[in-house]
Amino acid sequence: MSDKGVSDDLLEKVVNLCKRRGFIFPSAEIYGGFRSAYDYGPLGSLMLRNVKDAWWYFMVQARDDVVAIDAAILSNPAVWKASGHLESFSDPLVDCKNCHERWRQDKIGDSCPSCGSSDLTGSREFNLMFATHVGPLVDESTVAYLRPETAQGMFINFANVLATTRKKLPFGIAQIGKSFRNEITPQNFVFRTREFEQMEMEYFVAPDEADQWFEYWCEQRMSWYTGLGISESKLRLRHHDAEELSHYSAATADIEFLFPWGFDELEGVANRTDYDLKAHMKASGVNLEYFVPPGNEAEARRFVPYVIEPAAGATRCMMAFLISAYDEDVVSGEKRVVMRLDKRLAPYAVAVLPLSKNEELMKLSRKVLHMLQPHFMCDYDETQSIGKRYRRQDEIGTPFCVTIDFDSLQDNAVTIRERDTTKQKRVDLASLLAELKTETDGFTV
Ligand code: GAP
Repeated sequence: MSDKGVSDDLLEKVVNLCKRRGFIFPSAEIYGGFRSAYDYGPLGSLMLRNVKDAWWYFMVQARDDVVAIDAAILSNPAVWKASGHLESFSDPLVDCKNCHERWRQDKIGDSCPSCGSSDLTGSREFNLMFATHVGPLVDESTVAYLRPETAQGMFINFANVLATTRKKLPFGIAQIGKSFRNEITPQNFVFRTREFEQMEMEYFVAPDEADQWFEYWCEQRMSWYTGLGISESKLRLRHHDAEELSHYSAATADIEFLFPWGFDELEGVANRTDYDLKAHMKASGVNLEYFVPPGNEAEARRFVPYVIEPAAGATRCMMAFLISAYDEDVVSGEKRVVMRLDKRLAPYAVAVLPLSKNEELMKLSRKVLHMLQPHFMCDYDETQSIGKRYRRQDEIGTPFCVTIDFDSLQDNAVTIRERDTTKQKRVDLASLLAELKTETDGFTV
């Protein structure tokens, strides 16, 4: 990677590239947008899926102690009463009396960041949950909330999961899905939005083992980011002090990434104790204790498990991966923008490019495309010069281009070009698939 610091305009460059190349669009742009809502375009939707797949692989598929669920977004409001969200999931809100902007008091200090006035209203608590009504009646009795975190889905299904999987402690329940928060100040592109996607896992443990599992998950989660290409120098683990801890937490550490505006949260790892299970036990009257049967080395006993929770944002992580991958270098005397995305995260793994719009070349290229499509997400591009097409693929992070030229028609061989080094090698069509599979470590979906 070239020697690049975090430049002032890095955020602007990434935001522009996202719009220009179809990663992320302002939502409802033809109507002037909609308050920090974003739509993921042809490339962004592929990359977001890859981020989630990479998390899923690491947290669920490659382990035997984590199972998955996919819970409802709209659930019984009793869930949010028991969890404490109705009572205390709020931010302190202040208004500037001069310019009428609204702010989170804990983020701004004594004056308005917009106009500088210190004539602010007193702060009042503003609940972040989106309320709606379920069914045709609009009254108190039909109020329901869009989930502000996926985590509660795991707690309310704890007994069902335990009974159906017969898992023993320690074990985890993982889920990826949308969450909604009526943020007072959504900001910094997709860093903080009102609708976003979370990747959360609740790991149930014996209370006396909670501290060690908390350390374990902090370490594991840091390694997920570095394993996908974020340099250690741009990551840090920051432990919360007592004042910062959430109402449910005995210990929390944020995994922070060096965003263009400084270190900021990517993921929180929390020791949620037995707070949630106990709260749901009390409110629902259902026993959520774990039973250790007699006969093993432990005495028979019942207890409410503690929970270690690594909670990440898929959309926020995607933004961090994009920022960390953005690079500019010079190839053959020409400046190029290259997204040095991990091969598992890039929207396309392979681009198939006929050298020119010759009919025979295009026919063979389509044959190559169809051979690769069952194994890789592929792009196909026959427009403009080959040099321009390489640049276009570099800019969206495609790790490999496969070029079909006039020699290919004779020798049944094609050229593989690698994104980071721009090195090219000639490969027989018969071994192309195996070659690409080796290059991508066999990780193709
Ligand atoms: N279950 C615990 C929980 O939800 P959180 O720290 O509030 O904890 C976890 O959220 C992660 O979800 C954050 O670290 C962040 O990556 C993501 N996240 C939270 N609010 C977000 C928002 N408004 N926009 C985008 N991502 C958000």
